[in-house]
Amino acid sequence: MNQTEAKQKVEELREQLNRYNYEYHVQDNPSVSDYEYDMKMRELVDLEEQFPDLVTADSPSQRVGGPPLDAFQKVQHNVPMLSLGNAFNEEELRDFDRRARGGVDEDIQYVCELKIDGLAVSLTYEDGLFVRGATRGDGTTGEDITKNLRTIRNIPLRLKEAESLEVRGEAYMPKRSFIKLNEEKEANGEEPFANPRNAAAGSLRQLDPKIAAKRNLDIFLYGVGEWQTSELGSHSERLEKMEQLGLKTNPEWQKCDDIDAVIDYVNGWVERRMDLDYEIDGIVIKVDRLDQQEALGFTAKSPRWAIAYKFPAEEAITKLKDIELSVGRTGAVTPTALLDPVKVAGTTVQRASLHNEDLIREKDIRIGDTVVIKKAGDIIPEVVRVLTEERTGEEKEYYMPEHCPECGSELVRLEEEVALRCINPNCPAQLREGLIHFVSRNAMNIDGLGEKVIAQLFKENLVATIADLYKLAREELLKLERMGEKSVDNLLNAIHASKENSLERLLFGLGIRYVGSKAAKTLAEAFGTMDNLQKASYEDLLAINEIGDKMADSIYRYFEEEKVEALISELKELGLNMEYKGRRKSEQASDSPFTGKTIVLTGKMESFTRSEAKQNVEDLGGKITGSVSKNTDLLIAGEDAGSKLDKARELGVEIWDEEKFKQALNA
Ligand code: IVH
Repeated sequence: MNQTEAKQKVEELREQLNRYNYEYHVQDNPSVSDYEYDMKMRELVDLEEQFPDLVTADSPSQRVGGPPLDAFQKVQHNVPMLSLGNAFNEEELRDFDRRARGGVDEDIQYVCELKIDGLAVSLTYEDGLFVRGATRGDGTTGEDITKNLRTIRNIPLRLKEAESLEVRGEAYMPKRSFIKLNEEKEANGEEPFANPRNAAAGSLRQLDPKIAAKRNLDIFLYGVGEWQTSELGSHSERLEKMEQLGLKTNPEWQKCDDIDAVIDYVNGWVERRMDLDYEIDGIVIKVDRLDQQEALGFTAKSPRWAIAYKFPAEEAITKLKDIELSVGRTGAVTPTALLDPVKVAGTTVQRASLHNEDLIREKDIRIGDTVVIKKAGDIIPEVVRVLTEERTGEEKEYYMPEHCPECGSELVRLEEEVALRCINPNCPAQLREGLIHFVSRNAMNIDGLGEKVIAQLFKENLVATIADLYKLAREELLKLERMGEKSVDNLLNAIHASKENSLERLLFGLGIRYVGSKAAKTLAEAFGTMDNLQKASYEDLLAINEIGDKMADSIYRYFEEEKVEALISELKELGLNMEYKGRRKSEQASDSPFTGKTIVLTGKMESFTRSEAKQNVEDLGGKITGSVSKNTDLLIAGEDAGSKLDKARELGVEIWDEEKFKQALNA
C-alpha cells in the first residue's frame, strides 16, 4: 500500500470508528459487534504504525493509551477553577436567592444541574481539536492528564465545529463500573477504592494511560472557562451549544423561574438520585444570564452567581454485633461486620464489608462498637467511623485468625497484598465459591443454580468439582429440599445446554486468576480452542494485545497444573464444547493449510497489512503468535524479515514467503 492509498484507508477507518463510537456511547445502539470494532481499530493502529506521518491527534487510535509518563506536566488555568459555596437546607437556598436578586436588582432565572461526584477537569480545544486536558489542582495550577482523558470515549477528540474554547466538567466512574472494579481488586488481594470519586481520581492520576483506558470512566461537561468568540448570553444557551458541538452535558439540567422551582427540583432528586448510575452529592444552582453573572462577580473563593446544595449524607448509626469471615474463590479471607439492622439510603443494612485487617486497625473497629454506616456508591454499605465516645469498655478488639475458618490451613499474606489468603487448593470454601462463579451469568450462565442450590449440593456431597455438576443424577436432585420434578428437569436441561457454550464462557468460569470475562473472550478469539490455549507458551500469551505479563503468567501457570489438565479432559469427555463460536471461520476451513497451526508473521508484505494477514490466517483456522518458538509450525516472512526469520531457520520451522502465502489463501 502506498502513502495515498494508506491515507484514504486511514480516513475511512477513522470515520467508521468515530461513527461506531457515537452509536455505542451516545446513542447506546451499536451497529457492529465489539469484535468488528476491535478489528477495525487494530487495522488503523497497524496502518498508523506503518505510516507514522498519518497519525493525527484526533485519530480514534489515540484513545487506547500511549506509553506511560514519568510525571505530569503542570498546567496553568487562565481562568481559575473555583469551587462553590454550599447550602445545606431550604433556608440557605432562599438566602442565596435574596443575595443574588439584591445584587442585580432584577428577577433571576436559574439553571439547576446535578452535582456529579467525580474529579473536576478542564478540556481545551483549539480550532475544534482537543489539545489539552487538566485536573483542577489548586484552582490555579493543575496537572496535564490529556493522555488519560483521551481514553474517555465521550470526550470528543474533534468538535463538530472548529471552535476554540476551554470547557469544564466532571469525570466520573459509573457506579456499576466501580462495583466491578472493587470486586476485581478484592479478588486479587488489592486495596479497594473507598468510593467512585476516589476510583475516578485514582484512575486519572495514573502515569500509565492504559490503566485509565480500562477503567470505563465517563464525563459530563457543565461549564465554560474561556470562550472568547462566543456571543451566547446565557448559561443554558451555552449548555445547548456545547451539546451541539459534541460535548456531553448532563441531560437532567433544568431552567427554573424562581427559587421555589429550584427547591422543587432539589427535593425531587433526594430520592431519585439513588436510581442514577453515577453518584451525585448535590445540586448546583446557577444564575442563567451571563450579564447577571458578571454583575454578581466572585468572592475570593467562589462565584456569587452559583451555589451547591449538598444532600444530607445518607448515614446511620448502629451497633456492630460481630465480625464474620468469608473465604472467596481465590482464597482471600474477608471480614464482614454484622450489624443491628438499620435503614440507610432506602434499604435495610445488616452487613458491611470491612475488606481487610488493615482497615479494621486503621478505623479501630471493635466488636460491640457503635458505628456510623453509609453506602459507598450509594450501594455498598461501609463503616465510616466508630463513635468512640459511646464505648463502655466492653468492646472487644478483633484480630484476624491465623488459620482458614473453613479448612483450617494456615493463612498467608502474599507480597504486595493486603488480603490474607487460604492457599489450600482443596479448601471447600474456595471450591464452593468457584462453583458459584462457574455457573454465574457471565460464565456458564446456568439458570436455576443459584448460590443456595450450590451450597446445598455441596453440603450433601453431591458436587465437589465443576465436572461433578455434569454428572448430577435426577434421583439425587429430587431428594434435595425444595426441589420438585419440574425444577429438577429444568435444572438438568440448563446444565446440559451449558455444554454448548462458546469457549470464552468456560474460560471465564474456570476462574483463572486475573482472567475476567473480557480477557476470556480475547483468549478464546485468539486461540480458538482449549487445546491451543493449553499448549500456548508464556510468550504466545504475552504476544496477544491486552494480555499483560501478570495475566500471561497466571494463565500459563494455571494450565501447567496436572489437576487442571485432568479437569479439562474430564470436561471434554463429559461433552463440553471447547471451541470459540464467535466470528472465526475456522469450522468452515477445517482442511485449510493453516488449520490448527501456530503461525508467526514477520516483515512487510505488499498485499496485506499485518492485521489483514492475521485475519486471513485466523479465518482459516490458524493461530497467530508474536514470537518464534519450538511450538511454531510456520513462519510467514515478508520483506526485511529480521530476527524471527533467523530464529525460525535455527529451529527448523517451515518458512513461507508472501507469494506462497497468497497461493495458499487462494487455494
Ligand atoms: S459549576 C465556579 N456544575 O463541584 C465553579 N460544578 O465546588 C463552577 N461539580 O469541584 C462549578 N457537578 O467539579 C459545577 N454541574 C456542576 C457540577 C460541578 C460537579 C463539582 C466541580 C467542583 C465542585 C464545586
